[in-house]
Amino acid sequence: MDQVRIGIIGLGSMGSGHVRHINSLNNCRLTAVCDLNPDKLQNGDLKEDVKKFTDNDEFFAYDGYDAVVIAVPHYQHVELAIRAMEEGKHVLVEKPVSVQKKTALQLLDAVKKHPELKVAAMFNQRTLPAHIKIKKLLESGELGKIRRICWTITNWFRTQAYYDSGDWRATWRGEGGGVLLNQCPHQLDLMQWFFGMPERVTSIASIGKYHDIEVEDEVTAILEYPEGYTGVFITTTGECPGTNRLEIACDRGRLILEDDKLSYIRCETLVSEYIKEAKVSFGSPEQWKVELPVGAPAMWQHTAVIHAFAEAILHGTPLVAEAVEGINGLELGNAMLLSGLKHKTVTLPIDIDEFDELLSGLVATSKWEKKEVKKAALGDFSKSF
Ligand SMILES: NC(=O)c1ccc[n+]([C@@H]2O[C@H](COP(=O)([O-])OP(=O)(O)OC[C@H]3O[C@@H](n4cnc5c(N)ncnc54)[C@H](O)[C@@H]3O)[C@@H](O)[C@H]2O)c1
Repeated sequence: MDQVRIGIIGLGSMGSGHVRHINSLNNCRLTAVCDLNPDKLQNGDLKEDVKKFTDNDEFFAYDGYDAVVIAVPHYQHVELAIRAMEEGKHVLVEKPVSVQKKTALQLLDAVKKHPELKVAAMFNQRTLPAHIKIKKLLESGELGKIRRICWTITNWFRTQAYYDSGDWRATWRGEGGGVLLNQCPHQLDLMQWFFGMPERVTSIASIGKYHDIEVEDEVTAILEYPEGYTGVFITTTGECPGTNRLEIACDRGRLILEDDKLSYIRCETLVSEYIKEAKVSFGSPEQWKVELPVGAPAMWQHTAVIHAFAEAILHGTPLVAEAVEGINGLELGNAMLLSGLKHKTVTLPIDIDEFDELLSGLVATSKWEKKEVKKAALGDFSKSF
């Protein structure tokens, strides 16, 4: 095999992007697509030989692909990923891997049963050069021990028209969460990729603070890590102008990623040594400020993830992100929501039954109902409750 044959489930805004991403690559080709809405199959980027399906059973019965890309609303990710694995297909699942950790663990079980398959998650922001640089700097030891983290990710500004653009969006029953589940899975994944998992999370989460929605659109969380450092994570879809600023205070100085620019203020002496040894009351170590060049990405983020996925299938090379790693970022988001809505500090690993009970209660209050015409086909996304 010199090209992986791919089938996509879900041809909405992301799935139709993936058509173009796959079309631009040589190590894979699109051979099948499935969307329950036949209008979505009228996509001008689909080549003539691509098989089109509006029914999941017929799509899975077709044997003309080796791997499946899943780009449907989140509640269905785990179920469809497991089904694809049972059909012997490699899987690339969109973020978030699931809505709640409990169902994501079912994915983990399925992955264990199928070591012969590549099962990846679309954490495309891991491919950004600045993020790769941060990861390398943290692992190299150059920065010394982490002392404090603060990530303000408020440039996910969304209007009411955005939330109204898909009736499943921003509803407990249709989507299962708000900014933590839709916009922030990238940063939550990067948080765990860079810094590991905290042991305690305390947060304030606001439901529909800036939009007419059922779910959270602003969260501020404090994270306590077992290594002794602390983190603050701030996000909203209601602030403009927003920012994307990650500040990592370390023993050797401070690394700042702000709006795609990476800078480092490096202390000549380790801060921990200077605190102990300095003979002056108000001094500070000598510092240099350096702008770190990060270079341009070799490929568009999503294309890079799909390229690596196909290479992993063809040649056994590493994936950008294993799907099971998606459980960590998901758990972080679950912990922030649980803490915010229950007004208490949450210890990790979270109590998955407590989260499930919280979500089930929220789903029960959800006003979301599918329009009659789609109801039969789409069913209830939250049927796992
Ligand atoms: N990685 C990223 O940067 C990124 C960006 C946007 C969205 N996403 C993810 O992609 C997923 C889809 O989001 P979207 O914005 O494309 O949503 P969307 O509403 O635009 O598209 C979803 C599509 O899935 C179809 N669908 C639903 N259930 C289906 C099923 N069982 N079988 C086949 N088709 C089905 C719908 O008809 C619709 O066309 C979400 O999980 C979202 O988080 C990822």
